[in-house]
Amino acid sequence: MTKIEPPPRICDYEGSNYRTEFWENKGRDYEDRVERMALRRLLPKKGERLLEIGAGFGRLTDEYHAYEQVVLLDYSLSQLQYAREHWGSSERYIYVAADAYKLPFKPGVFDGATMIRVIHHMASVRTVLAQVRRVLSPEAIFILEHANKRNLKALMRYSSKKQSWNPNDLEPVEFVELNFDFHPEYIRQELQAAGFSVERRLPVSFFRLNSIKKVVHSSVLAGMDGLVQVTGALYAPSVFVKAAAGEHGVSNLKAASILACPDCGGDLERNSDHMICHRDHRRWAIRGGIYDFKAPIEDE
Ligand SMILES: C[S@@+](CC[C@H](N)C(=O)[O-])C[C@H]1O[C@@H](n2cnc3c(N)ncnc32)[C@H](O)[C@@H]1O
Repeated sequence: MTKIEPPPRICDYEGSNYRTEFWENKGRDYEDRVERMALRRLLPKKGERLLEIGAGFGRLTDEYHAYEQVVLLDYSLSQLQYAREHWGSSERYIYVAADAYKLPFKPGVFDGATMIRVIHHMASVRTVLAQVRRVLSPEAIFILEHANKRNLKALMRYSSKKQSWNPNDLEPVEFVELNFDFHPEYIRQELQAAGFSVERRLPVSFFRLNSIKKVVHSSVLAGMDGLVQVTGALYAPSVFVKAAAGEHGVSNLKAASILACPDCGGDLERNSDHMICHRDHRRWAIRGGIYDFKAPIEDE
């Protein structure tokens, strides 16, 4: 008998105060600045359709102006509701509540994707990267940020025996439930296994220490971080990777509809306030302008 693997666990942000408790007036201006700087360095000058996976409340959405259309995907409806209130509803922005392990899209419908501060919540890197590759067209660009286990602080703590796990081991470390740090080489190998080639890597957030942030203005620190980024010395707590999808697969950038059933991949048809799958007949709600693929509508 074949063993059925349980689905990967999800770090659920539904109803969380992530925006107000983590970002707004929480002394993270420096982190926000340097992440934007890295994105500007890595994003292409022009593109058709970008998928942001784990977009949260849309913190970085304004960085994607080079793309004609942006799809914000997150597992949390409440994060997306805020994003939609902020960025509005138009042909340009599409909001999708779904699990990144089961992306509700046809193959090859995006020529760009980003995933920032998300993969550290992923228990199965392999599953999510295979999904991202599937929905990208040949030669598309994927920008992935990951928490770096081989950062300077971890290396020093390990060498002074204040930390038990070895930052040089390739395996991810789960330091708190569903919070992983990754070795840059592990991520490179997993990207390659999924059909990507790594084009560039930037060390980011090198000065992420409260003691430094208290005394040096965020704009000065960000300038210094910008210099460290170009050295490529991957010892910062965060790494931004620019990867290119290989030449195999299909380009569906001109598809009339990009959505597909997350359970069976079937075509979907809109029916007033929901989508219905032609193949398995599951129905998926559209709530306040957000496509909700978290769970199908229950039959009465
Ligand atoms: C730390 S927040 C980052 C949000 C945004 N990328 C940013 O940098 O501001 C992580 C986000 O990943 C989302 N997330 C976690 N697991 C997910 C999954 N399996 N599928 C889709 N989104 C997921 C959470 O809902 C949350 O909004």
